[in-house]
Amino acid sequence: MSNELKRGLEGVLVTESELSHVDGDVGKLVYRGYDIEELARGASYEEVLHLLWYGSLPTRGELDSFRGELESERAVDDDVLSTVRALAEADERPMAALRTATSMLSAYDAGEGGTLEEGARITAKLPTILAAFERARQGESAVDPSPDLSHAGNFLYMLTGTEPDETSEETFDMALTLHADHGVNASTFTAMVIGSTMADVCSAVTGGVGALSGSLHGGANQDVMEMLHEIDASEKGPVEWVKDARANGRRIPGFGHRVYKVKDPRARILEEKLRDLADASGDATWLEYTTAIESHLESEGLFEKGIAPNVDFYSGSVYDAMGIPMDLYTPIFAMSRAGGWVAHVNEYQEDNRLIRPRARYVGAADAAFAQIDDR
Ligand code: ACO
Repeated sequence: MSNELKRGLEGVLVTESELSHVDGDVGKLVYRGYDIEELARGASYEEVLHLLWYGSLPTRGELDSFRGELESERAVDDDVLSTVRALAEADERPMAALRTATSMLSAYDAGEGGTLEEGARITAKLPTILAAFERARQGESAVDPSPDLSHAGNFLYMLTGTEPDETSEETFDMALTLHADHGVNASTFTAMVIGSTMADVCSAVTGGVGALSGSLHGGANQDVMEMLHEIDASEKGPVEWVKDARANGRRIPGFGHRVYKVKDPRARILEEKLRDLADASGDATWLEYTTAIESHLESEGLFEKGIAPNVDFYSGSVYDAMGIPMDLYTPIFAMSRAGGWVAHVNEYQEDNRLIRPRARYVGAADAAFAQIDDR
């Protein structure tokens, strides 16, 4: 057995997977061999879920029936919605509220079928939970899911009470596709560890939400937006602000990645989307800030060190242009990534082996035990 210590499991292979591959040297991401760019532009989130879960892009008939299955599972039990309202009243953070409500779903789940069936029921319900939470915060009652809208469109509808226009629905759908899967990242690994004990899918997804919430992972999209607002409120321009932040040892959120050593392809696609949205609205503030920061950090040599924009650098600005509150960005990421967590748990369980690494013990040896009153 190798005794080599790999802190953060960096570069360690834990399993074989056919689901997604990140080529960090050239900035390429594929889901089951399909380039992310083609999927983001040409396939809906539901098609991508079908690809990840069942191994192929669906035919029209397969898609209709898959969409029907998800649509029929969107409603959430009233008890869960009451808890969501209570959490909103208690000012709970959206990611924590989503985690708590996700965990509650098992109490109202019939437990039928295998991992994919349970995963589909949970994936269908996360948008309903999140939209209800946001509406409760705004003092509004929850909007029932619409059976006629796509996963993306229905979320926006439940959030605002109004059916979204085509551009908003398409943009949001694209964002969901871009975030659906990404190899064995921290939250996916968390879900896989839980799944490898043969715990239920609800536990795995709940754990995934917890892992994603941190600022080194999904939480960075909100941090980027907070940075942009901080810059806006300051006297400084974006370049000066970033120079000062770096001089004070601050990391720039939305930059750097454990696997990508060049610009994340998802960031490239979202940047383009942000450009379209800025053209349409006439407000290019965030686009100007982000591109100025990116150019400056590139000229400072960060790209050469393999620290380039990741998906979070541009996603927040895109959501902001759609009028979505900042602290919903990470829960939206979770809503999408649930599809990837379910896919990985399912794939791993097909040839399951309990995930159980070890630590190199560097603690004391032969400590002499004393009873409590003798210490
Ligand atoms: N800004 C400035 N410097 C950075 C940044 C950054 N955002 N990220 C990494 N570095 C520097 C570090 O200071 C370190 O420099 P040093 O060797 O001189 O000390 C070097 O790059 C390596 O950094 P590590 O933290 O060791 O690299 P790791 O692979 O562990 O980090 C991580 C990856 C956690 C994503 C890191 O780049 C980071 O903190 N980024 C900011 C947060 C972020 O955007 N997270 C989202 C990631 S994408 C996602 O989860 C969806």
